[in-house]
Amino acid sequence: MSSTLFSALVLLLLLLLHQPPLSSAANLNSKTSLFRSQPIFEPTSLSTAADASPTTFFEVTKPIPLPKTKPFSKLILQHDFAYTYGKPPVLANYSPPPNFQSQKFSKIVLEWTATCKGRQFDRIFGVWLGGVEILRSCTAEPRATGIIWTVKKDITRYYSLLQSNQTLAVYLGNLVDSTYTGVYHVNVTFHFYPVEETYVESDKGFGFGADLILPISRNEKLNDGLWFEIENSTDVKSKEFEIPRNVYRAVLEVYVSFHENDEFWYGNFPNEYISANNLTGFQGNGPFREVVVKLDDLVIGAVWPFTVIYTGGVNPLLWRPITGIGSFDLPTYDIEVTPFLGMILDGKTHKFAFGVTNALNVWYIDANLHLWLDKKSEKTQGKLLKYNASPLSLYLKSNFTGFDGKFITNVSRSIFSSGYVKSSHGVIKTNSSQEFKYSNVMVLGNEGNLQDFDQVIHFNGSIEMEMPSSSVKSTKSLKKFGIHLYSDYVNKGNGTYDSVANVTLSLDEKLKETSEVGTSTSKIKNLQNGQGNMLVKGNLVVSGLGSTQQEYHYSGDKSCYFRNVSSSNYTILHDKESNTCTYNAQGAFSNRMPFLGYKLRGEKKGLM
Ligand SMILES: *[C@@H]1O[C@H](CO)[C@@H](O)[C@H](O)[C@H]1NC(C)=O
Ligand SMILES: *[C@@H]1O[C@H](CO)[C@@H](O)[C@H](O)[C@H]1NC(C)=O
Ligand SMILES: *[C@@H]1O[C@H](CO)[C@@H](O)[C@H](O)[C@H]1NC(C)=O
Ligand SMILES: *[C@@H]1O[C@H](CO)[C@@H](O)[C@H](O)[C@H]1NC(C)=O
Ligand SMILES: *[C@@H]1O[C@H](CO)[C@@H](O)[C@H](O)[C@H]1NC(C)=O
Ligand SMILES: *[C@@H]1O[C@H](CO)[C@@H](O)[C@H](O)[C@H]1NC(C)=O
Ligand SMILES: *[C@@H]1O[C@H](CO)[C@@H](O)[C@H](O)[C@H]1NC(C)=O
Ligand SMILES: *[C@@H]1O[C@H](CO)[C@@H](O)[C@H](O)[C@H]1NC(C)=O
Ligand SMILES: *[C@@H]1O[C@H](CO)[C@@H](O)[C@H](O)[C@H]1NC(C)=O
Ligand SMILES: *[C@@H]1O[C@H](CO)[C@@H](O)[C@H](O)[C@H]1NC(C)=O
Ligand SMILES: *[C@@H]1O[C@H](CO)[C@@H](O)[C@H](O)[C@H]1NC(C)=O
Ligand SMILES: *[C@@H]1O[C@H](CO)[C@@H](O)[C@H](O)[C@H]1NC(C)=O
Repeated sequence: MSSTLFSALVLLLLLLLHQPPLSSAANLNSKTSLFRSQPIFEPTSLSTAADASPTTFFEVTKPIPLPKTKPFSKLILQHDFAYTYGKPPVLANYSPPPNFQSQKFSKIVLEWTATCKGRQFDRIFGVWLGGVEILRSCTAEPRATGIIWTVKKDITRYYSLLQSNQTLAVYLGNLVDSTYTGVYHVNVTFHFYPVEETYVESDKGFGFGADLILPISRNEKLNDGLWFEIENSTDVKSKEFEIPRNVYRAVLEVYVSFHENDEFWYGNFPNEYISANNLTGFQGNGPFREVVVKLDDLVIGAVWPFTVIYTGGVNPLLWRPITGIGSFDLPTYDIEVTPFLGMILDGKTHKFAFGVTNALNVWYIDANLHLWLDKKSEKTQGKLLKYNASPLSLYLKSNFTGFDGKFITNVSRSIFSSGYVKSSHGVIKTNSSQEFKYSNVMVLGNEGNLQDFDQVIHFNGSIEMEMPSSSVKSTKSLKKFGIHLYSDYVNKGNGTYDSVANVTLSLDEKLKETSEVGTSTSKIKNLQNGQGNMLVKGNLVVSGLGSTQQEYHYSGDKSCYFRNVSSSNYTILHDKESNTCTYNAQGAFSNRMPFLGYKLRGEKKGLM
């Protein structure tokens, strides 16, 4: 064993002994990862400095398109999250605006605003309304001089849920002691935007927001989040449910986040490398993960998640003040359940189950079942016509000798279903398909201290509905999730190490929706580059520098958004924002007709 590696292992052991309290990443008893979330050490004397003003942290994303009406705004919850770890979620009563029945709202927005001062880990948190998760997010790590950040999320999709009194629950497990001093002061506000006067009722009862949303989450009295915890590759968590007998469409919205030993699953080492080198403290099971969703033991869909890096991950200096893609509003994944409705329209109890291929402890997963009800009949009927789930096709190759080498992991799979539902809308046949491709090329060098990997996930999703008029309504989405991470690590002795990490995150999405009234397309291209170095002593980052550059392009039928921003050492260097559409060759869209189903809800991400 090389002396550098040996000392690295000794250091890892030392870190294990001094493991910090549970963060979005770290666990008291678990082995550690070199990228794990870290808080930053800043002298607390800074907080009394004369120019101590809070830093505003933010995630780059397009603004939510809003009607020009004046919103009705309501503070739903105000709470200071101090020692909340292992305690029940914080609850608040939600009641709809007084005129909810008579007034129509075209947009409903959740606003999370929080401040924090001191030193603290990045904490994962969830917000549930009536057990339905409406936001999964991660806190920003504070500074001695204080920080503030705001997350806005379009929650119009949960319209039917927002019509009645509900309990809002927030779980944010925080620990406060003499080292980790940050208390999160949080406000959750809902903004209801009435429809504009020119609004024309175009609701034909098909395809708009769901009539009923069932939580597929834990409902016990918990000292934890309402999410299920998947602890290993064989762990399966499930929930029983029943649906009304007049459902004509169903979509399962899945929330996913990964922590502790799997926080950086995409950088995990192949097991044979770990055992060949007798490594301890390195995370295994290779870099591929898949969330599998089953309905009554049949695989109905999968999620190959985006590689969200939380605000303390890899090098926390990278995410100050521009946070990682998806970290303040984690992506969710929709699975079309309509082809399978025939299996569950019998008024009986059925079961959704979640598992994660190759999982290490721990994945937080739950889901919401969006249901559309046939108001003109008491019973609908359905039948699954065709179903095909290919097994994972796996290609693995490695050529390591000793600590150095290369690993290639390529995986693909597809899931197809076709079924019909007979309702007062007629007989509608729905086809749904998911196609996934994954590739991860990992190189280890410098006697195991250097890691360089490139991972890409391609996803094609398609939903086609053959309407009784024999026209076809379809939604096609193409997604590409990329991460490239280069990291090198030098042990400086005395429980101190130097780390260099360059990271690229990319999230591209194309959406195309077609119906009788036309075609609507939109495109997002989101690219983030970061370069960081840091000196870590014990559990704290004592010095270092992080620089981040981000380019965000959105173009839709009705609007565009562009932002180009960069930062270094907490300071914004360059920030350019624009909402004019400058159509280039790739961005040119032939048909600008608004999609019928989206008039009411505006720029919703679509049926998928
Ligand atoms: C929360 O709202 C209260 C009341 O409006 C306000 O005083 C406080 O500053 C807000 N806190 C945050 C973090 O926005
Ligand atoms: C909903 O909550 C409000 C405010 O707490 C209360 O006045 C009202 O009676 C409740 N409505 C129902 C149907 O329970
Ligand atoms: C996986 O996790 C489950 C749930 O904690 C546990 O019951 C089971 O023993 C674990 N399996 C393995 C192989 O560790
Ligand atoms: C593997 O490492 C452990 C501790 O690091 C040590 O006790 C053990 O002897 C090693 N095994 C081999 C085969 O080198
Ligand atoms: C593994 O293969 C790559 C080329 O694919 C080569 O560059 C590298 O040197 C090889 N590593 C070892 C340890 O053989
Ligand atoms: C749905 O799938 C079936 C079976 O593969 C196929 O025959 C049909 O053409 C598909 N419908 C649409 C609208 O693509
Ligand atoms: C997605 O569809 C495109 C064609 O539109 C094809 O080139 C690509 O290979 C597909 N990707 C997957 C993952 O199936
Ligand atoms: C693995 O996937 C990548 C990206 O799709 C591709 O370039 C490469 O040729 C694949 N390798 C093998 C051996 O299939
Ligand atoms: C390690 O710590 C000891 C005691 O604090 C100190 O004497 C020594 O100089 C340190 N070594 C390095 C390389 O910093
Ligand atoms: C990482 O980023 C730094 C700063 O831009 C650069 O000097 C270095 O070459 C990069 N390293 C790699 C391996 O890309
Ligand atoms: C974004 O800003 C950087 C730095 O000013 C610049 O080099 C780059 O060309 C800009 N990108 C676009 C698409 O404008
Ligand atoms: C970062 O900025 C601080 C002042 O805000 C300065 O003291 C420090 O030297 C800078 N660090 C680097 C690496 O430039």
